[in-house]
Amino acid sequence: MWEIVTTGQSGATVSRRDGVYRKTSNDPRDDLPGEAARLTWLRAHGIPAAQVLSSAPGLLETAEVPGLPASDYRHGVVDALADFTRVLHALPIADCPFDRRLAVTIPAALAADVDLDDLDDERAGWTRDELVAQLHATRPVQEDLVVCHGDLCLPNVVLDREGSQVTGLIDVGRLGVADRWTDLALMTRSLSDPGLNPGYGPWAADRFLTRYGIAPDPAKNDFYRLLDEFF
Ligand SMILES: Nc1ncnc2c1ncn2[C@@H]1O[C@H](COP(=O)(O)OP(=O)(O)OP(=O)(O)O)[C@@H](O)[C@H]1O
Ligand SMILES: [Mg+2]
Repeated sequence: MWEIVTTGQSGATVSRRDGVYRKTSNDPRDDLPGEAARLTWLRAHGIPAAQVLSSAPGLLETAEVPGLPASDYRHGVVDALADFTRVLHALPIADCPFDRRLAVTIPAALAADVDLDDLDDERAGWTRDELVAQLHATRPVQEDLVVCHGDLCLPNVVLDREGSQVTGLIDVGRLGVADRWTDLALMTRSLSDPGLNPGYGPWAADRFLTRYGIAPDPAKNDFYRLLDEFF
């Protein structure tokens, strides 16, 4: 019997059985073979990521990553997450065939449906036109390019039981070359919100950035959270 884990908003359903996770979707926006290619690429570059067992249009099966998602820990994993993010962001971008620069993601955002009922609190009640206008008005001039996970939030990173080592990334469909604040903005949002992830809070986001070794960049932080509203 497959046990359902999540039914995502985009239409993807994740189930598990006997150490196998199966993601299925009939939504053409979910490129599961593309996600499989990204998992395989990460592992080939020494980054722990779920092992692909099979993939086809609408289907991705991966081996269970041992441990627990970072969202299940209450404390103590922030430094491990920051150290891991640095390692991911140190991969050579020239080796990465996946492009998530603004030249790609802004047109994709403009073509996307936006769930206006699921905006971050600071944009609650905005119209699509307002989101688009703000996207154009605040688009960064310079991109500080690294290999980004693209949806780097606590549930998408699995750590060992001690919480000291990342054992695997999952949900990598948006991995690609992008500004590092793509990941920093989403991870600090995930770490800041005790409602989303109990046990964390603003202290955790501050600690993450300090350990990662970067000063806050409010403009890029806001822009990349805004961009995420479109996906
Ligand atoms: N290979 C795996 N090993 C361990 N856990 C996994 C694996 N694949 C998926 N999971 C678990 O299933 C959850 C959902 O998987 P995933 O994030 O890929 O789906 P999703 O539809 O994108 O979900 P969401 O929209 O909630 O991010 C993960 O947060 C994780 O807890
Ligand atoms: Mg996920």
